Amino acid sequence: MDTMKQTQRKVSFPADHGSTKAPMEDRKRNIFIVDDEEPIRKVMNTHLTKEGYSVIQSHGGSGVFAALESNSFDLVICDIRMPEVDGIQVLDFLKKKFETVPVIMLTGLTDVTTVIEVMKKGAFDYLMKPVKKEDLMVIIRKALVHRDLLVRNKELELENREYQFFLEQKVRERTKELNSKAMELQKAYGHLKNMNIQFINVLAETIEAKDQHTRGHCNRMRCLCVELGRLAGLSPEELEILEYASLLHDLGKIGINETVLNKQGPLTEDECEHIKEHPEIGEKILQGIPLMEPVAKIIVAHHENFDGSGYPRNLRGEDIPLPARIISVADIYDAMSSDRPYRKGLRNEIVIEEMTRVAGTQLDPRIVRMFIENRLCDFNSR
Ligand SMILES: [Fe+2]
Repeated sequence: MDTMKQTQRKVSFPADHGSTKAPMEDRKRNIFIVDDEEPIRKVMNTHLTKEGYSVIQSHGGSGVFAALESNSFDLVICDIRMPEVDGIQVLDFLKKKFETVPVIMLTGLTDVTTVIEVMKKGAFDYLMKPVKKEDLMVIIRKALVHRDLLVRNKELELENREYQFFLEQKVRERTKELNSKAMELQKAYGHLKNMNIQFINVLAETIEAKDQHTRGHCNRMRCLCVELGRLAGLSPEELEILEYASLLHDLGKIGINETVLNKQGPLTEDECEHIKEHPEIGEKILQGIPLMEPVAKIIVAHHENFDGSGYPRNLRGEDIPLPARIISVADIYDAMSSDRPYRKGLRNEIVIEEMTRVAGTQLDPRIVRMFIENRLCDFNSR
């Protein structure tokens, strides 16, 4: 008891933790004392036991680490200057192995450098020997409150990690579900697209049945136009619309008199005017079907000429939708290169010569160039 009379104590713990209230937990707390001086251990043991703490003691030395590892404790009070193993080594060991256990260092030294070193290494606080009982109790209570907060913090971190894992698991499950739904939708879309194209093919065949000169024309147009569209850099969505428009470009021929359509000899002026109605008839048929609106805008322009001399609206250059300019090029190529009941298809050189001649007047020269350079003129002989 006398050794504790002239205590000089320095506390560095924040003021809001200065309460001397009992720590959060009610269970009996274990305090581990490491000091090579037996009298000091005995005095502290007496005080701490009276205050209701359980005490474990060690005189230090090489056995201290095994003793710490084989015991359970809430707080360590450790002397700094000890033979064989000093307090700083014990502190390092504790910070590594028991990070939530506060360590109070005891020093008889007035060596500020050592005190700063232990505080930097994570000591909770330090007491100068001889230690006064009241100071010891205050600092122990603060250290235990701190310990409880650290433990709670760790628990919350763990709960947080578990919750995060739970959320990640949920996200993974949901993503899997969504991917599977997306695949189902993709399949359903593919199925619908197939039905759509089959329906459009039926329409295209209806047109061809009416105009006996153009058997197979719509399907050849479809293949040629899609290839040209790709070369022109159209997006997959634009290519799909071009595909429909190429199959349906002559849809309006349904409204043209069959005798005029299938006439062998030259057409009269009235008959020519009647045939020229087919782009607008086709547009009207498709108008009002939301999915077909963009297709209607293309087919109404498939007889427009690049120099503005076409019909029905005398559109010029880039005012004519690009897919319609592509259809014009493919249409002229197919008309010239395919066999007709009254003549054989023209040779490639003649077709190319004629297409080059009308590039810039009837046809978009850029598309014609693309057509020739990519040897699409060999298409009908493939
Ligand atoms: Fe046409």
